[in-house]
Amino acid sequence: MLRVENLHTFRGRIHALKGVGIHLNAGEIFAVVGPNGAGKSTLLGTIAGLYRSSQGRVWFEGAEVTGTAPEELVRRGLALVPERRQVFQGLSVRDNLLLGAYHRYRQQRQTLERDTEDILTLFPRLRQRIGQAAGSLSGGEQQMLAVGRALMARPKLLILDEPSLGLAPKMIAELFEAFVDMRKSRGLTILLVEQNIRAALGIADRGLVLERGRVKVEGSVSELKTHPQVEAAYLGRYAEASASPGGPAG
Ligand SMILES: Nc1ncnc2c1ncn2[C@@H]1O[C@H](COP(=O)(O)OP(=O)(O)OP(=O)(O)O)[C@@H](O)[C@H]1O
Ligand SMILES: [Mg+2]
Repeated sequence: MLRVENLHTFRGRIHALKGVGIHLNAGEIFAVVGPNGAGKSTLLGTIAGLYRSSQGRVWFEGAEVTGTAPEELVRRGLALVPERRQVFQGLSVRDNLLLGAYHRYRQQRQTLERDTEDILTLFPRLRQRIGQAAGSLSGGEQQMLAVGRALMARPKLLILDEPSLGLAPKMIAELFEAFVDMRKSRGLTILLVEQNIRAALGIADRGLVLERGRVKVEGSVSELKTHPQVEAAYLGRYAEASASPGGPAG
């Protein structure tokens, strides 16, 4: 349902992606992991039309979409939840959700109510806070809202950039459970970038390790988990990192 071939993208003068290829089957959860600055956000942003590639091609649902504008990709069913939850702090939870459906606000107004209801069922915490300003929510709740808003666009492919960032373990578990649920109930395909490798590999089917703009290792989750390089460089290090005090809890 998504295919990327030989993607090269520059961020300023930095050659951030150096020939990345990736393919996702429908209904799959695919994890991209790798260190800071590896090019993970650049990869997601290039797929979602935010950054222009200098070389390479992207196909979505059988059609080439290389260089297509982000709004058009949203219309076609590709939604990105960017790094660091970006909700409109001054707007209510309900209005934030409705903004996710802006592109079909006129034509399909009657479905908005039902879609909002579906999302509140998926994230019951949001229901209790529906009239509250988004800025007054906890970090984890804001992340749920950011995901909920993306779902309001009725995507077929949901792309998530480090959704666990800054969240307490309990919130991460809740959020990731919702991802698994969304795949099951909506047949959603999910492309997930994570620094929390254990959490990501806990729900993914396949994945890859990106380092310095290149795919280092790729395979099924069981292959990745037992890959000596992945274990040494990531799983071991993550275990150490998680033992030290982290960022703000969600
Ligand atoms: N706006 C920018 N201008 C110039 N260089 C940038 C810009 N944004 C990112 N870069 C560089 O591009 C490279 C890839 O960055 P990217 O944000 O894609 O990495 P990442 O894997 O998402 O890292 P992180 O885990 O820290 O989010 C890095 O070397 C980074 O410094
Ligand atoms: Mg990033």
